[in-house]
Amino acid sequence: MAALLEINGLDKSFGEQRVLRNINLEVERGEIFAIMGPSGAGKTTLLRILNLLEKPDTGSITLDGDTINGVQRNGRTATRQRISMVFQSPALFNDTVYNNVAYSLRVRRMDKHAIESKVSQSLALVGLEGYDNRWAKTLSGGEEQRIAFARAVVFEPDLLLLDEPTANLDPANVAKIEEVIRTINRELNTTIIIATHHMNQVRRLADRVGMLLGGELIETGRREVVFGGAADERTRAFIEGEMVC
Ligand SMILES: Nc1ncnc2c1ncn2[C@@H]1O[C@H](COP(=O)(O)OP(=O)(O)O)[C@@H](O)[C@H]1O
Ligand SMILES: [Mg+2]
Repeated sequence: MAALLEINGLDKSFGEQRVLRNINLEVERGEIFAIMGPSGAGKTTLLRILNLLEKPDTGSITLDGDTINGVQRNGRTATRQRISMVFQSPALFNDTVYNNVAYSLRVRRMDKHAIESKVSQSLALVGLEGYDNRWAKTLSGGEEQRIAFARAVVFEPDLLLLDEPTANLDPANVAKIEEVIRTINRELNTTIIIATHHMNQVRRLADRVGMLLGGELIETGRREVVFGGAADERTRAFIEGEMVC
């Protein structure tokens, strides 16, 4: 079976600066793929392109065989309904937890009872059942991020993009979020791409990894293989914490 996501020959510049260079990558259905790399490597830009927030200059991206860059307006909407993203900061609406999580289902005009049931399933998935009527701004940082996950997966996207989702959290909440990521992957079989520079997190979560450096994907492989002995010296240095980031 073909990969869920295929990226071929993708380039992106901001002005004179080439931020992504000839990215080629396949991500299989159901896997957790970690994009590792120091700050400035281009991780966020790559995820934003996949989430259609940014356009690549050249190259192609397909999701389940459908081209997702360069698509017409309607196609773009259809694609957006299959991908979602969680950012470093949750940025919830100033509203109840229920309304935050229900939002994307209302946009899809799902019926009220179906929405109620999907929202409770989603809250249970992140371990915050019963939080429906809580006001988003009364939550702790860790709880807010778990609601951001509930909001991102409530419509069961094919692909979930995570951009350093634990960067602002303390270790206890990092562990909870990692558990949420594993639960989503296991129970919904969601394909996940996570950008992170925390090697222990990669070790705990990823099936496969890619090392992004200076906009180039210099190495990809199964996590245990790359962590067991990276082919590229720079990947090895990064994994061992010898690279400044
Ligand atoms: N909108 C933008 N305009 C100009 N430069 C940008 C923009 N977004 C990112 N960059 C630059 O692209 C490079 C990669 O950034 P980013 O994708 O955020 O890397 P990472 O997430 O790995 O830290 C950086 O040098 C950054 O300054
Ligand atoms: Mg980033």
